Amino acid sequence: MEKVSIKQPETIERSEFLKQVGIGFGAIMLMQCIQGCAESEIPDPNPTTGGTKLDITIDLNSSTYATLKNKGGFAVISANRIIVAQTQSGTFLAVSSACTHAGTTVTYRANSNDFFCPNHGSVFRSDGSVQNGPATAALKRYNTSVDLSNNKLRIFE
Ligand code: FES
Repeated sequence: MEKVSIKQPETIERSEFLKQVGIGFGAIMLMQCIQGCAESEIPDPNPTTGGTKLDITIDLNSSTYATLKNKGGFAVISANRIIVAQTQSGTFLAVSSACTHAGTTVTYRANSNDFFCPNHGSVFRSDGSVQNGPATAALKRYNTSVDLSNNKLRIFE
């Protein structure tokens, strides 16, 4: 007569089972947290560099920048994600235009000489630092150099 052996299923203790399930669950939760955190990262306050320092010159005679002709006027340079304002006669400042909270384009407020985000109300000082949240990171401040005789404004890092 042929001998048949039946292998018994391996058994583990209940506590060992729970420990293994718990480790697996923890690993899944950790991965989801990492993915979730990456998606809600603060917008890059320095979006234009990409390894190259920003250095652009704009023509203040261009109709594109007509709003910059007057004290208190501002313009957004979308291609470089920069906002430029003439804060005093002949004095310009430039900061990154994407709010560091969720990326909404900020506007310049001449009356208070600051940058305001219309999305959730963050306020940034003229140097780009945060005055009121929810944003917690500053806008990047750029250097400016104006040549009024040629109506050129250089914005650079
Ligand atoms: S996106 Fe600017 S405050 Fe939220």
